[in-house]
Amino acid sequence: MSKLKIGVLGAGRGKVMMKVLLNHPDAELVAVCDSYEPVLEGAKKLADETGINVTMYSDFEKFLSHDMDAVVLANYAHQHAPYAIRALKAGKHVLSEVLPCATIAEGIELIEAVEESGLVYAYAENYCYRQDTFEMWHRVKSGEFGEISYAEGAYVHDTTHERPALTLGDKDHWRNHGHVNFYCTHSLGPLLTVIGKRPVSVMGYELPNFGRGGKVPGRWGGAGIEMVTLENGCVCRSLHGWLRREGARNVNYVFNGDFGTLETSRFNDTPILNVYKEGDKFCSGEWEHYDPTPRIPMIDSVAASGHGGSDFYSTHFFIEKILGRPDGLEWSIDVYDAVEMGICGTLALRSRLQGGVPQYVPNFRNKEERDPYRNDRDTTHPGVENGNLVPRSLNADPNPPDDKFYDYIRSLYKEGKKLHSYDI
Ligand SMILES: NC(=O)c1ccc[n+]([C@@H]2O[C@H](COP(=O)([O-])OP(=O)(O)OC[C@H]3O[C@@H](n4cnc5c(N)ncnc54)[C@H](O)[C@@H]3O)[C@@H](O)[C@H]2O)c1
Repeated sequence: MSKLKIGVLGAGRGKVMMKVLLNHPDAELVAVCDSYEPVLEGAKKLADETGINVTMYSDFEKFLSHDMDAVVLANYAHQHAPYAIRALKAGKHVLSEVLPCATIAEGIELIEAVEESGLVYAYAENYCYRQDTFEMWHRVKSGEFGEISYAEGAYVHDTTHERPALTLGDKDHWRNHGHVNFYCTHSLGPLLTVIGKRPVSVMGYELPNFGRGGKVPGRWGGAGIEMVTLENGCVCRSLHGWLRREGARNVNYVFNGDFGTLETSRFNDTPILNVYKEGDKFCSGEWEHYDPTPRIPMIDSVAASGHGGSDFYSTHFFIEKILGRPDGLEWSIDVYDAVEMGICGTLALRSRLQGGVPQYVPNFRNKEERDPYRNDRDTTHPGVENGNLVPRSLNADPNPPDDKFYDYIRSLYKEGKKLHSYDI
């Protein structure tokens, strides 16, 4: 069988997928595209080290006309849907980085492009495939915990100091325009996949940005919370953003079910997973504390991929799904689940802007639910085509960024420095 020919758009984060593809037995990295020369140079170096011939492009249209079966989109987070649609129309399967769409209308357009194409769309929400969350997904899916009634997901990642490298000092960069609920799928995604029920209602919250963090220009809120109710009544709390908690286990998940609880560890010196399980008797059960062995083994040549192996699985299951293999069909995240995860953030913003009103989460698997949302283009990103710009918060920004701030961030970026203080 010949290998799948795959290209990668965006060679920053895209390098992670490049590494998987360069070492995967069923795939071949054939092309990479990035319009930013230094980043493309880095991709070329990585490919050259493996001795594999990969064509480099700076122009997307030329890249798209390369002879290939599929593309990985690791471009700007608010531009995935239009690029996915262009790729699907050109006959390529698509693996998309987070997030799936910038507006609810784009989510419908994406779903319909996938349906019309008959091609594979997979969502690379790698936090669903961590050693802990993927094990929890297997165990909850097996039914051993019964119905889940409550769950928590936390993706706590303060990137304030990384601002120069993450935004290059570009004031139009998507990371300067997101609202606190935008980047919601690392915390919410695993809750939805593990429980396997769809969300029906969302309420959004914005945590205040006190003290030091609040003085950094352009920092909207300390973090975002989505309180999501699922179709079975389960309530999920998804928390993500810039709280102070460094260290490897600042990403946590908890599931409370009818027969017990699953919790990830919060400290580095304890096992990865903690599971409490009850038998027939009320309030009587056993704990297990363990580091799970992956139920689906990683391929040795690709095992060194990032985020504790999770980056391997999102790309691997995409390949497996294109090839029609059972693991890909079972575990790859499809376009309906992807859009649902992503629009929960948009709806959480709408809830906040309405003073906390719960928002219905439409089920776009039903075609009749699409029409009322076809022109729903609310976004906080100025670059979104036909976007309807809405505020990021009901609160006034205490410290709006000005050109001086962006100049400072750009100078740090050029010097390869981090943002360690905000006294500018
Ligand atoms: N899943 C994860 O753990 C994780 C981690 C980091 C980033 N991400 C996601 O990966 C994506 C990329 O993030 P990043 O950190 O690399 O930063 P980024 O968004 O700044 O980088 C995007 C890259 O794509 C290139 N690009 C964008 N549009 C292009 C076009 N039309 N033609 C050619 N090149 C284009 C840019 O030059 C840039 O190098 C984002 O969507 C982000 O959400 C995911």
